[in-house]
Amino acid sequence: MAFEKIKVTNPIVEMDGDEMTRIIWKSIKDKLILPFVELDIKYFDLGLPHRDATDDKVTVESAEATLKYNVAIKCATITPDEDRVKEYSLKSMWRSPNGTIRNILNGTVFREPIICKNVPRLIPGRFKDIFQEVYEASWKTKYEAAGIWYEHRLIDDMVAYALKSEGGYVWACKNYDGDVQSDMLAQGFGSLGLMTSVLVCPDGKTIEAEAAHGTVTRHYRVHQKGGETSTNSIASIFAWTRGLAHRAKLDDNAQLLDFTQKLEAACIGAVESGKMTKDLALIIHGSKLSRDTYLNTEEFIDAVAAELKAKLSA
Ligand SMILES: NC(=O)c1ccc[n+]([C@@H]2O[C@H](COP(=O)([O-])OP(=O)(O)OC[C@H]3O[C@@H](n4cnc5c(N)ncnc54)[C@H](O)[C@@H]3O)[C@@H](O)[C@H]2O)c1
Repeated sequence: MAFEKIKVTNPIVEMDGDEMTRIIWKSIKDKLILPFVELDIKYFDLGLPHRDATDDKVTVESAEATLKYNVAIKCATITPDEDRVKEYSLKSMWRSPNGTIRNILNGTVFREPIICKNVPRLIPGRFKDIFQEVYEASWKTKYEAAGIWYEHRLIDDMVAYALKSEGGYVWACKNYDGDVQSDMLAQGFGSLGLMTSVLVCPDGKTIEAEAAHGTVTRHYRVHQKGGETSTNSIASIFAWTRGLAHRAKLDDNAQLLDFTQKLEAACIGAVESGKMTKDLALIIHGSKLSRDTYLNTEEFIDAVAAELKAKLSA
């Protein structure tokens, strides 16, 4: 069934990327976005070969275009190290594209886990329980003999305590935001494929949306050898929905906003109906994981497309 495409008045900036996420990116565009939305895309290829060919100017240009059009949707990209310089025969060890873009946009990154009811969470609770168990079993009496103690406090309580106290404590932090900690948090909520990341600029108008994870090199190596992959595309799909939802807000485009909500619901609906990639199936089934409990990369995107079509026709 052909759908009447939703018209979008103003452009978005698309930043393409590398490896497994570049492959997923194309499928998302072809199967979940372009059949439904008529979009003026300002395309920038931030894949490492093109960054090298343009002496990384393309990264700067993409950030400048973001300031102009206010909405950027970014695929994960390789930050080169010495091995990548050799692998891609680079002219130089170009800087992290995210660093370059953040310097130009000067914003703050907000990350949010995507929650599916049937994906068990490690956080919150479990870490706290482990600390408590270890403390009680091995340390409580020793601590008390030394006149010290351990206790769990909520983060807001702890921040207030840190401000008013004069020290004399060790603070073991958990669940707090930041690049490194949020990866851990994402894993706690199921998978790195379940964490959105949106850079919001001080003008309140300009944003850049992306997945919080990297280019999933390990899966790409399998793909390069012709093997089957099962890479979670949800966070990359949410890069599109969060970017397009912001476009909808700026343009006052209710139809586009509705589409983004249905696409997000289609991802969660697919997982909650048992259609998921291996990373999530592993958390649910553990050692009982078998091939019939998960879909491969393309099958999962197709399952989301089917859910989306059903929601759009309803
Ligand atoms: N925002 C970005 O563009 C960004 C962020 C981090 C890393 N990177 C780049 O990504 C490349 C690979 O880095 P890495 O391996 O450390 O990080 P990664 O996030 O790509 O992968 C780490 C591991 O997490 C799991 N994983 C991550 N995303 C997944 C998904 N969608 N589905 C299933 N499993 C998933 C896999 O087990 C994978 O081996 C590097 O070149 C790095 O520079 C880019």
